[in-house]
Amino acid sequence: MLVWPLGQVFAIANQKGGVGKTTTAINLAAAFAANDLRVLVVDSDPQGNATTGLGVAKNTGRPSIYHVLLGGADPAQAIVHTEFDGLDLIPADKNLVGADIELVDLPDRELKLRQCLASIRDQYHFILIDCRRHWIFSPSTPCWRPTPCWFPSSASSLRWKASRS
Ligand SMILES: Nc1ncnc2c1ncn2[C@@H]1O[C@H](COP(=O)(O)OP(=O)(O)OP(=O)(O)O)[C@@H](O)[C@H]1O
Ligand SMILES: [Mg+2]
Repeated sequence: MLVWPLGQVFAIANQKGGVGKTTTAINLAAAFAANDLRVLVVDSDPQGNATTGLGVAKNTGRPSIYHVLLGGADPAQAIVHTEFDGLDLIPADKNLVGADIELVDLPDRELKLRQCLASIRDQYHFILIDCRRHWIFSPSTPCWRPTPCWFPSSASSLRWKASRS
């Protein structure tokens, strides 16, 4: 069993699409959980691929990360226990498509996700945020910053450059 401090938050991001962000988030989370670490995956992509990839239905009407970010929902109520012991999820839904615009006028929007997750942060060893493409560069919605980031990249020059730009 690994011993690890609680409350480590990582964003998994790349400007490019289809480089393995969600695959990395899901598999890292599963690996941590298999080693008895408690993990929360936050799906912040309206495609909801991390949500469905962890076996959870999307667009069901229950609280999602959208409702936590913009609806004042308690993050604890948005948490879904997956079929994997120790691996929880805050799902995404299609409402997140417009979140960029809705967040634009909020003060401290770049810290919004961090603030929203503060109350549950110490329940987990790792919180992995599966980012949507482009979010990193959006003036309105890089709302996980400042957070350590992993940049998965498939083996092509443009995708590697996208990690570094
Ligand atoms: N290490 C890998 N080797 C081979 N294929 C991979 C690897 N990681 C991911 N893939 C495949 O690449 C495709 C895209 O992966 P994924 O959905 O994780 O990317 P993404 O960056 O999250 O995409 P999006 O920007 O659309 O959210 C999927 O078909 C996935 O199975
Ligand atoms: Mg993805």
